[in-house]
Amino acid sequence: AKILVLHGPNLNLLGEREPEIYGRATLDDINARLAARAAAAGHQIEAFQSNAEHELVDRVQAARGDGTAFALLNPAAFTHTSVALRDALAAVKLPFIEVHLSNPHAREPFRRTSYFSDLAVGVVCGFGADSYSYALEAALARL
Ligand code: DQA
Repeated sequence: AKILVLHGPNLNLLGEREPEIYGRATLDDINARLAARAAAAGHQIEAFQSNAEHELVDRVQAARGDGTAFALLNPAAFTHTSVALRDALAAVKLPFIEVHLSNPHAREPFRRTSYFSDLAVGVVCGFGADSYSYALEAALARL
């Protein structure tokens, strides 16, 4: 099955962006690791990153008709702001796991609110790039 991996704003800078918080792995490293693991299990990864809210909304809407079975979503800063992206996921009824590299609950208070967690199958946060891998294992177990 096809698994969509959606990355929100500033995640294109992974590896150089606040590495003490987000680690040294680049987005390409993370996507490559996920693609290899999914392929070994007989599934496919399609990764998409955008800094623009409407592009993420459009990508979620496109999942309606393109055979996407499941999504891993790191909404990044949109976690704490985007009703529009939340509504897109609710509209498309795409099952997804919310992923964060850092543990937002251990940071600034404004990061404790997520517009996604109550819609998500589950949430994985705080394990750096491994958060995505753990989320993928959970997704694979459900496909
Ligand atoms: C993040 C946490 C968010 O609070 C932050 O805005 C990000 C990344 C994470 O993966 O830890 O950009 O989603």
